[in-house]
Amino acid sequence: MKTLEHELSGWMRARFQTLFPDTDFSGVQMEVLPATDERFGDYQCNAVMGVAKRLKRAPVEVAKLLVAECPAGVARLEIAGPGFINFHLDDAALARRLEEVQGTERLGVPEIGHGKTVVLDYSSPNIAKPMHIGHIRSTVIGNALDRLHRFLGYTVVADNHLGDWGTQFGILILGYRNYLDAQALKDDPIAELERLYVKSYERSKEDESWLHQARAELVKLQQGDAENRALWQQFVQLSLGEFAKIYARLGVGFDLNRGESFYNDQLAGVVERLQALGLAEESEGALVVKLDEEKLPLCLVRKSDGGFNYTTTDLATVLSRAKEFSPDAVIYVTDERQQLHFKQFFAVARKMGVTTRLVHVWFGLMRLPEGTFSTRQGNVIKLERLLDEAESRALALVKASSPEMDEATQREVARAVGLGAVKYADLSQNPQSLVTFSWDKALALDGNSAPYLQYAHARIASVRDKYREQFGDRRPEDSPIVLGEAIERRLAVRLARFPDVVARATSVYKPNVLCEYLFEVAQVYSTFYQTVPFLKAEEGVRESRVRLCDLTASVLKRGLALLGIEAPNRI
Ligand code: ARG
Repeated sequence: MKTLEHELSGWMRARFQTLFPDTDFSGVQMEVLPATDERFGDYQCNAVMGVAKRLKRAPVEVAKLLVAECPAGVARLEIAGPGFINFHLDDAALARRLEEVQGTERLGVPEIGHGKTVVLDYSSPNIAKPMHIGHIRSTVIGNALDRLHRFLGYTVVADNHLGDWGTQFGILILGYRNYLDAQALKDDPIAELERLYVKSYERSKEDESWLHQARAELVKLQQGDAENRALWQQFVQLSLGEFAKIYARLGVGFDLNRGESFYNDQLAGVVERLQALGLAEESEGALVVKLDEEKLPLCLVRKSDGGFNYTTTDLATVLSRAKEFSPDAVIYVTDERQQLHFKQFFAVARKMGVTTRLVHVWFGLMRLPEGTFSTRQGNVIKLERLLDEAESRALALVKASSPEMDEATQREVARAVGLGAVKYADLSQNPQSLVTFSWDKALALDGNSAPYLQYAHARIASVRDKYREQFGDRRPEDSPIVLGEAIERRLAVRLARFPDVVARATSVYKPNVLCEYLFEVAQVYSTFYQTVPFLKAEEGVRESRVRLCDLTASVLKRGLALLGIEAPNRI
């Protein structure tokens, strides 16, 4: 089944082509979108302006010709202002559309990604350092993009591009040899590795010979010295073990965990290729690529000491990914501070002949409540502690709303609600705005929050249970959906938008688009629930309403699942 927007946009294009067979309309926007003001219709389109321009005719004239016919499933078209077109869907066709998707797995969401591959580079923390808020956000947002793409039928290669290579390992190895506290390493490996690094780094600033020793350790590691290699391995394993705990708790998994080190032996080749292509030149002993045309600063690809850098690694990585997976896109999810890096690296990759679509999805850093900060670094967050607190706050909510539930179930539900609240607080923000996390907002039962949607879902699911208790032998699906009341129609219009919203949230890489939609559905549902009787309605109407409830529950559950959030049937 085609989505509504797809169908209506397709009709517009075909209609103009029939009306004006000799005109080429390629490049003219024919997008039909949800109406910004529902009083004027269900969908709207301003293609007439572009078409009229190409025809050199007055928009109103063109609009009049257009609306002489109407697409299937639409009751009427209206011209507004100078030539905007408003679409009023036909009630019966709308109801049939919903009936068709009810009870299905995909709820009308098309597999537009079928046969296409995307590589998703997200989370990507650094070895021997704690994850900072940027990595947490990358993990949560990246995982939602991962789920969205998979649901749309894309083949996704989720790759955790770990920062497991670099000059810091010389300093760390030296610190480890001299200052190790074995017990501390057992208790909190990452904290101890970080302490060792900092201590050794500070000494290197005052003590020249220490710095030389650190460099020597690094060279040994890079040349494959067995002992240093083993130490490095140990750092990687310890860090991965800690990261794995966080991923398990967040319900996040990767297809690949290729760190930067994986590409180590390809770096020299990348630089040689840049030189052979005449793209790189010496500058003060270093090797750089000029990006004047792109109006970007010089891009360093080899340092003056001969070492390679972050950009060299990303170039090697993208060349390797392009070759191995032939992806349609490679998507990188990081915080906003890396924008320049990605612009430069993408520009150099293009010059090297990479044609794959490269996308940098960036987000602002989120401010966190007091107490979740570590003292030394403002944006390091103890995620464990944040999630523990979310669960205990959620447990209080669940105990209040379901005192009759047994303790184990209450805890299980509180886990889903607490985790959901934290994830949703992150996902529901426009990624490109600076936000402050607040417990009140994250756990609000009456705002745009995961608990609000989870409670709404559970309440809706219970309507179905009550129906079964009273009318056990009837199947609501045997009665048609009838959109008699205005509020039923409003809800139906929202539900029919689900496929387009999923596609849009994915194509603009913004999970918040889906969040806003789910919140709207839940709000419209709540009005529906308060306005009309369900189980007390007359036969037929009752079944139709139960079906709308059921579909609303399915949409909320599926939508939350695409965000990585559970929706328990009872809360
Ligand atoms: N490890 C990097 C950091 O913590 C993020 C890596 C993002 N991915 C990439 N291919 N550069 O800043």
